[in-house]
Amino acid sequence: MSRQDILDSTEEGSIERQLFEKIDISRLPAHIAVIMDGNGRWAKGRGLPRVEGHRSGIASVREIVETCARLDVPILTLYAFSVENWKRPRSEVDVLMKLLKQYLRLELSTLMKNDIRFQVLGRLSELPGDVVSELEAGMERTRDNRGLLFNIALNYGGRAEITDACQRIVNEALACGEAPKIDEAFFAQRLYTAGIADPDLMIRTSGELRISNFLLWQIAYSEIWVTDTFWPDFRKRELFEAIIDFQKRDRRYGGIAASTRSTA
Ligand code: FPP
Repeated sequence: MSRQDILDSTEEGSIERQLFEKIDISRLPAHIAVIMDGNGRWAKGRGLPRVEGHRSGIASVREIVETCARLDVPILTLYAFSVENWKRPRSEVDVLMKLLKQYLRLELSTLMKNDIRFQVLGRLSELPGDVVSELEAGMERTRDNRGLLFNIALNYGGRAEITDACQRIVNEALACGEAPKIDEAFFAQRLYTAGIADPDLMIRTSGELRISNFLLWQIAYSEIWVTDTFWPDFRKRELFEAIIDFQKRDRRYGGIAASTRSTA
């Protein structure tokens, strides 16, 4: 996939094309993370059952994965199911699991064709066996792909991830009989995201101004962009708007603004 594919898939003069032309391709976020929210409200607004919002959200997933691959964004992480989402009605959880399985089955050939590597972040072993098999098959098939790294956060919680990392460190220490010296780099290597760059841009749909236990460690310096658009309506247009806004930000990492930096 390439930038040319985006030009080919956007009509000349369309809003999408105009937005795309404003993007500085040399300064793309290396990692985009998305809290896909508002599926239930999207469905309610149409007088449909909540699960129809999740079903429609799949089309957004497809378009955003494809667009990130075409843009050459290195990493995309989508928050699909949190450790807290088990509190939802059983019927809704079942539909979400079914949709995930279906997505993987239907999209695997597209992921392969587009050199996309697929990975899961979260407590995989607590998911239903048939879902785990499907996910593992997807990860195995795409393992050697070198294009976009597409992470699905599934049965994921930021606090769970941090406590799992602590447990790992304790287990390693007990196995070798030695207490390690812990610094940030050492700790980050025990997270589910070991070896993956932190998100530069965190997007949340549906207007809510919260993090909802997503990538708590990794978003220390992420730029946050929130849109009122519900996830099933989120398309490349909104993605381009988020990237354009990201490119206007002055990222200081606790330092001072570039424009006020003295040359002395
Ligand atoms: C939040 O909306 C959305 C979810 C909890 C699930 C997101 C899942 C999908 C889009 C489908 C599967 C994903 C992949 C990656 C194949 P909500 O239900 O909390 O909406 P509400 O806040 O309006 O109730």
